[in-house]
Amino acid sequence: MGTHSVKSHLLASLGAYLQELQESGIDGLSLEPAAAAILEPSPAQPVSAQLEPQQDVRQPDSAPAEKQETLEQIRKNLGDCQRCKLGATRNKLVFGAGNPKARLVFVGEGPGADEDQKGEPFVGDAGKMLNRIISAMGLQREEVYICNAVKCRPPQNRNPEKDEIAACSPFLLRQLHSIKPEVIVALGTFAAQTVLGSKEPISRLRGKFHDFHGVPLMPTYHPSYLLRSGGNSDSFWTVWDDMTQVLRLLKLPVPEKSRKK
Ligand code: URA
Repeated sequence: MGTHSVKSHLLASLGAYLQELQESGIDGLSLEPAAAAILEPSPAQPVSAQLEPQQDVRQPDSAPAEKQETLEQIRKNLGDCQRCKLGATRNKLVFGAGNPKARLVFVGEGPGADEDQKGEPFVGDAGKMLNRIISAMGLQREEVYICNAVKCRPPQNRNPEKDEIAACSPFLLRQLHSIKPEVIVALGTFAAQTVLGSKEPISRLRGKFHDFHGVPLMPTYHPSYLLRSGGNSDSFWTVWDDMTQVLRLLKLPVPEKSRKK
């Protein structure tokens, strides 16, 4: 698929995002012991140490070699972005963070208040939950890449609007094409629907791989949803089941977690 059709795909998806943007910033929730057990960190093992000879499962558009951009170039091209009205109200643009050669990329929805202050994705409470998921997978945050469907915080954490997504989506695509991950995890309804151009609820999208221009993409619940679920261990196990599929696809060990009832 060419760059033009990739853009068309994203533009076609713009109508699909109108599900709620899960808000971050929930604090003070203690988890049920069973839920907490799922998120016990597993001994971290550098992904690089466990790689099979790199399989190129990724065929994200056969961009000519000269079109392969670095993340730095994409960031530079964004500049002090005012392509949509979020530019006027944001504090810091949140580009993304992590390993530019990550095998695994997490795509969230959009920056919240903490991220807007720091200019980094997933640094608030939802970020702490995401860190726990990553550790439970036996990985370290630095070895994956984390970004969002939109790069600037919508005022009062409202849902991003169509024109804002339209302005921002091409940059997410360019980031994904630059990183060429082997697997993408879309966190929450908004990210999954935006990236896949779907109107399906996350409960229907999650649990199976979807094709994103040749890259397997696993939608799962947003970390904020886990925070909101009040420590209900079922939702933790659901996310864990999705993440075990991701680990298996990456041919990484799946840490044992015991399901105490
Ligand atoms: N929620 C998101 O989806 N992204 C962030 O960066 C923070 C919270």
